Amino acid sequence: MKKLEGAALLDALERGSVRIAERTVDGSWTIHGWIRDELLALFRSSEIIAQGLEQRDYTYDRPSAFRDKRAFPVRHFGPHDGVRIVPGGSAVRRGAYLAPGVVCMPPMYVNVGAYIGTATLIDSHALVGSCAQIGERVHISAAAQIGGVLEPANARPVIIEDECFIGGNTGIYEGVLVRKGAVIAAGVVLTASTPVFDLIKQTELRGTRESPLEIPERAVVVNGSRPVGGAWGGQRGLQVACALIIKYRDEKTDRATALESALREGLVER
Ligand SMILES: CC(C)(COP(=O)(O)OP(=O)(O)OC[C@H]1O[C@@H](n2cnc3c(N)ncnc32)[C@H](O)[C@@H]1OP(=O)(O)O)[C@@H](O)C(=O)NCCC(=O)NCCS
Repeated sequence: MKKLEGAALLDALERGSVRIAERTVDGSWTIHGWIRDELLALFRSSEIIAQGLEQRDYTYDRPSAFRDKRAFPVRHFGPHDGVRIVPGGSAVRRGAYLAPGVVCMPPMYVNVGAYIGTATLIDSHALVGSCAQIGERVHISAAAQIGGVLEPANARPVIIEDECFIGGNTGIYEGVLVRKGAVIAAGVVLTASTPVFDLIKQTELRGTRESPLEIPERAVVVNGSRPVGGAWGGQRGLQVACALIIKYRDEKTDRATALESALREGLVER
């Protein structure tokens, strides 16, 4: 992939023609770390100016509710973008891609470099962090937090593949890869260090420096706990959080996580 800089990179990210992560034919993801480095360079070189959701004529000394780096204004959308952004305090930052058919419920925030596939719904109080990659027909529930790559710096973006269901109040951070159709139950937090125990396949999943924590296709992940190590904690019966694959998606899960087509109709201009 040809390296781009500055506005040319942000334009390409917004068009979705350049992404920080690309799925290869064998299902692995190639990460283009230079994109994160270039975004950080843009933060460094860009001055802080007055900004607002409705302002386009940004100046340095104009009083404003918002002050941010010149390179990263809030995105504006037209009918041809085919997205639905419900009023109420949401913002999509320059350099983020929203495919036609995306629905955004307020308030939510999509940061620079994020990629969101078609017919995905981002519910209220959700965060799609910098460079996070979200597939098609995904439901990002209310207050779900999808971490970014800028601070603390992460080598890999969080990747949520197509048709996943990310429950309310979840947190997916530190380059975790959630494979197609997986369901993350409400309240589950996954970081690179979270051990995940697969009760069906009887395996333990962990991220390593070389490869991310990977949630398998169609896995249903719920909160679990396990005894802490050491005699002191053991004597007191202390537990530490983990995650459990309690089952693989079945018809009951499909019913519990079904997408509503009425919410997505009429988005793409005819
Ligand atoms: C994961 C979820 C979809 C349930 O999936 P399901 O396939 O219907 O699960 P089942 O009811 O068949 O449960 C299977 C097992 O997992 C357990 N389980 C299910 N959900 C659980 C959860 N969230 N936490 C802990 N255990 C859970 C059940 O108790 C059951 O265990 P058992 O067999 O020992 O009794 C549901 O719990 C969930 O998190 N929904 C998301 C809600 C949400 O965030 N909505 C967003 C609103 S904006």
